Amino acid sequence: MLQQLFRKKTLEQLQKESEGSSLKKSLGVFDLTMLGIGAIIGTGIFVLTGEAAAGTEHAMGAGPALTVSFVITGLACLFAALCYAEFASMIPVSGSAYTYAYNSFGELLAWIIGWDLVLEYAVGNVAVAIGWSGYFKNLLDGFGLYLPGWMSAATGTQMVQLPSGVWTELTPGISSQYGSLVHSMPQVTSLLNFPALVITLVVTLLLYIGIKESARVNASLVIVKLVLIGIFLWFGIPHFNPSEHWKDFAPNGWQGIMTGAALVFFAYVGFDAVSTTAEESKNPQRDLPRAMIFALVVCTLLYIVVAGALTGMVPLDVLANEKPVAEALLSVGEGNVALLIAIGITLTMPTVLLVMQLGQIRILYSMSRDGLMGRRFSQIHPKFSTPSFATLMVGLFVGVLAATIDIGIAAELTNIGTLFAFVLVAIGIWVLRVKQPDAPRRFKTPWFKVVCTLCVVTCLALMLSLPTVTWYRFVLWMVLGVVVYLLYGFRKSKLSPAA
Ligand code: ALA
Repeated sequence: MLQQLFRKKTLEQLQKESEGSSLKKSLGVFDLTMLGIGAIIGTGIFVLTGEAAAGTEHAMGAGPALTVSFVITGLACLFAALCYAEFASMIPVSGSAYTYAYNSFGELLAWIIGWDLVLEYAVGNVAVAIGWSGYFKNLLDGFGLYLPGWMSAATGTQMVQLPSGVWTELTPGISSQYGSLVHSMPQVTSLLNFPALVITLVVTLLLYIGIKESARVNASLVIVKLVLIGIFLWFGIPHFNPSEHWKDFAPNGWQGIMTGAALVFFAYVGFDAVSTTAEESKNPQRDLPRAMIFALVVCTLLYIVVAGALTGMVPLDVLANEKPVAEALLSVGEGNVALLIAIGITLTMPTVLLVMQLGQIRILYSMSRDGLMGRRFSQIHPKFSTPSFATLMVGLFVGVLAATIDIGIAAELTNIGTLFAFVLVAIGIWVLRVKQPDAPRRFKTPWFKVVCTLCVVTCLALMLSLPTVTWYRFVLWMVLGVVVYLLYGFRKSKLSPAA
């Protein structure tokens, strides 16, 4: 049995699968880089940056040293990207890390990574949908359309209606701002986050009826996103005042920096989604490595500059909310720019949802093709030619969670799951260099022993900086995965002698 748990797919088998793929090979390095940036820039930079800098009741903030958090996290991702790049150049198959593990570690670990990637892509999208909902609600509020408190936040969130009519979460900040007046303001417990549910359903519907992430549409939206960041910097930097706001650069020292880094890691999640498009790339062995690294480098530089600008423009408490970029501009008197940015973010953030949801569907599709998931997950809709069942199931899973849970829980689970996948990918590169030194590699991770070790060390350090409760949830999810595999995938696998 032990041997069966580690049965492997050979490189030749995987290459044959890739060659036999019926997906249209149309993406070049520019489209792939744009897809990467499209999946990367979203909730992380536009929403979570505020919490990571200012801290919350449960986590210490990094303060202006958030820039350092972004550098650390960017490096961890760069090491991981170099490892992904080598794999993508060897095994251009759409299952990404799941498929790589099938070749380097065997079936059990492949399953574990596949199960783990649900945390990256599907749970990641839960956080993105909630982040989007925050900006959308804020936009409605700006136009005087106040979404009722019972439908605007995670289930069980205590909401209060401010004198302006806006419903907001009853945080300690609000309580101290309004003092005893709070008790006379209307309050309600939220039932669901309705906008987060709706945006997930819209994306699911688009994917169901066959909208492919048209490279051109994605590229246009990415350009809009980059322009938005440019506008923010253009209007924000004149208000940059480090002698006032950077006086206490790292208020919580290294602990704050690492806690912030573990949270903003979310901002980088998605560059690896590019590797799930391997079967649609014109020249995946050459272009995937380049695109992942280009996208990551561009985003890392932007993130460091944006984090520096934000924390240097305003005091930290202005950032302690779910729309820090808009709030910072508002607080320095750039209300119109804040509105423009909020509209832009609301319009462009769904590209993250689209690319990540597609990544999740493709991975389930690959797992089902291998017999590890039910056959229905790889069934193609007769009219729309999409994996319709997988699309609906992912949509349902993401929608229900997005409507009910808190963004912090979702982002932290995504981070721990993605970091775990990065650790295994780095170890996998080392294993293959030893076991299959002569296999053709179009891209080779430079100084692989150093890079793999640094990847493992930095990713583990970030994992350890996440709250204990996130670890419990992660372990629970993974144990559940192993049980499902033993009860189902192990017997149904195409590699099983019984198949
Ligand atoms: N990196 C993506 C985001 O920040 C998931 O929204």
